[in-house]
Amino acid sequence: MDINEHLPKLKELAIESSKQAYAPYSNFQVGAALLMNTGKIFTGCNVEFSDYLALHAEVNAIGSAVNTGEKDIQAVVVYSTSSPPVLPCGSCRQKIFEFSNMFNHDIKVIAFNNKNEKIEMLLSELLPSGEIKVDKKMI
Ligand code: THU
Ligand code: ZN
Repeated sequence: MDINEHLPKLKELAIESSKQAYAPYSNFQVGAALLMNTGKIFTGCNVEFSDYLALHAEVNAIGSAVNTGEKDIQAVVVYSTSSPPVLPCGSCRQKIFEFSNMFNHDIKVIAFNNKNEKIEMLLSELLPSGEIKVDKKMI
């Protein structure tokens, strides 16, 4: 799949989604857009709570995709206004890895901001030696 062909739309939708962010505590709005194998795009923004457990934009986008029956993620695009642009955190990297592992392919991660800065990496670079280890007793 040619991700670059979808990039303008992914960026536009990530920016749109960031405007919906509910971030009264950090005042840091993030938007994520996922490109699926079907060509469909799912978005998510961050949502903060007073228990400090924020839903990250990437996770909200994953929830939206899975909720619609889609899991095969080709690319994750993250928009914020920080410089350098914010990349998925460790926890989000592991969550994205869940689907990279499931479908046996790498996932492109692109972070960009409103200052024309862009970071493009592969999930395998952000999370080398990723693995799925589940202790069933913990679930
Ligand atoms: N945040 C995201 O949603 N995604 C990221 O990649 C980095 C951080 C959110 C969590 C929290 O609501 C705010 O940004 C500040 O950390
Ligand atoms: Zn995160």
